[in-house]
Amino acid sequence: MWRRSLLRAGMGSSRIAWRTDLQRAHRYFHSSRPLFVVKPFLLADIGEGIRECEIIQWFVQPGAKVQQFDNICEVQSDKASVEISSRYDGVIKKLYYDAGDMAIVGKPLVDIDMAEIPEDTSELGDVSAQQEQSKSEPAAAQETGSSQIRTSSIAEGMEAAAMNGSGNSGRHRSLATPAVRRIIRERSLDITKITGTGKDGRVLKEDVERYVEEPAEADKSSAVAAGRPRSAPTQSLEEETVPLTPMQNQMFKAMTRSLSIPHFLYADEAGIDRLVTLRNTINKNLAQSNDSIVKKISFMPFFIKAVSVALEEYPLINCRVDLTDESKPKLVTRPQHNIGIAMDTPAGLLVPNIKNVQQLNILEIAAELNRLQAAGSTGKLSAADLKGGTITLSNIGNVGGTYVAPVIVTSEVAIMGIGRSKVIPAFDDEGAVVPKTVVNFSWSADHRVVDGGTMARMACLVKKYCEEPELLISKLR
Ligand code: COA
Repeated sequence: MWRRSLLRAGMGSSRIAWRTDLQRAHRYFHSSRPLFVVKPFLLADIGEGIRECEIIQWFVQPGAKVQQFDNICEVQSDKASVEISSRYDGVIKKLYYDAGDMAIVGKPLVDIDMAEIPEDTSELGDVSAQQEQSKSEPAAAQETGSSQIRTSSIAEGMEAAAMNGSGNSGRHRSLATPAVRRIIRERSLDITKITGTGKDGRVLKEDVERYVEEPAEADKSSAVAAGRPRSAPTQSLEEETVPLTPMQNQMFKAMTRSLSIPHFLYADEAGIDRLVTLRNTINKNLAQSNDSIVKKISFMPFFIKAVSVALEEYPLINCRVDLTDESKPKLVTRPQHNIGIAMDTPAGLLVPNIKNVQQLNILEIAAELNRLQAAGSTGKLSAADLKGGTITLSNIGNVGGTYVAPVIVTSEVAIMGIGRSKVIPAFDDEGAVVPKTVVNFSWSADHRVVDGGTMARMACLVKKYCEEPELLISKLR
């Protein structure tokens, strides 16, 4: 009977129900342990349209005891890395993948033996110790139950994590704190090659620094993959082959998918002097105000709102293409303007979106943009922040560059690129030369469903709202 209860509790039933069944089972069968209920733990759907994820690292090995919410592994999807935590108490029996493999959503990730719960936890060694620490993660980290978005390798609260392949003999090898793992990931180093001098061979920041100063010759090439500049000139004139970083791997796949979309590029220049004046006025006011949580706004909230207001007239640009039946493509209209913002974060390019922009005013958009930027820079964007975008804006202007030809993501039909604004000499109505602030807007649209005329008209309307922000304000509810 209890076996039936356990099986019932396995997928989809509440944790309380499972705990109750388990406690009852222990009461009745305390000493008759070998009643094996090995349960495949499936990789849950972690985001819109994501079908597979790369296994970045395992936090457990066969034989490890896990409890609900203990981290099992870290996987990398198209958008971010996610820590998968257990929904069950039990003992890991089998890992279905090696680190580096692609795990399929909905297929087994590990087998967990829910009956075999060793009472002598001393045999679990490092595992329990690490997972005790992981249980002290903030509540927010546990909200998602079986998965938690951690952009890139940043995983605060997870005090120790394991990677494969070190010389240590325990079940968890190559230990390092999340901060150290982040440094290792950012520098594209292989943790297994770094000698850890901390407790139980834990790799410390000093170990990484020491390793970087005197790395093995073969490892110097890993810096290339990360796209970071080399700090010292190299003597070697030989070509090197290096693997892609996990983020590059995902970008490779996502962008390859995007290339199935025939892109139509449209670009224009907007004069934004009136917007500059308006923004200065607003910022002066914000700086003196105690009421607003926003103390300064950039141009982005205006651009975002201009796009949203223009979408009211051109809802096609907010659609997605449904290719469920490839012989009968469909368009799905989306009333929400969930505007994605391409964000340059320490983890790489991430695209969180501001939800329901159609209902927000400029300051509300600015507040949400600030929140997303702060979350992006500290690796704390949630799955919800990254899901559900309907159109994207990519502003490369804070980095530099006048023109950008942006690439559409497959769940959208258009993306707007914004270059760096600059002041140029221009002629006024009387023919006199005057300074003019201009910015380049470029649009890529899915030419299978968006014709050039529609895209150009929508782009002209956005430009108009940015050149004459009074018109934009007149549209605010
Ligand atoms: N032209 C001129 N200046 C610009 C600008 C532009 N297009 N965009 C930003 N700036 C300025 C801002 O005004 C601000 O300066 P200020 O403080 O003097 O006003 C400064 O650059 C920093 O702005 P930022 O904090 O980046 O805010 P933002 O709201 O303008 O941009 C993001 C927010 C998230 C879009 C931006 O930080 C970012 O990550 N951009 C990169 C996107 C990317 O990588 N795209 C490529 C995808 S392939």
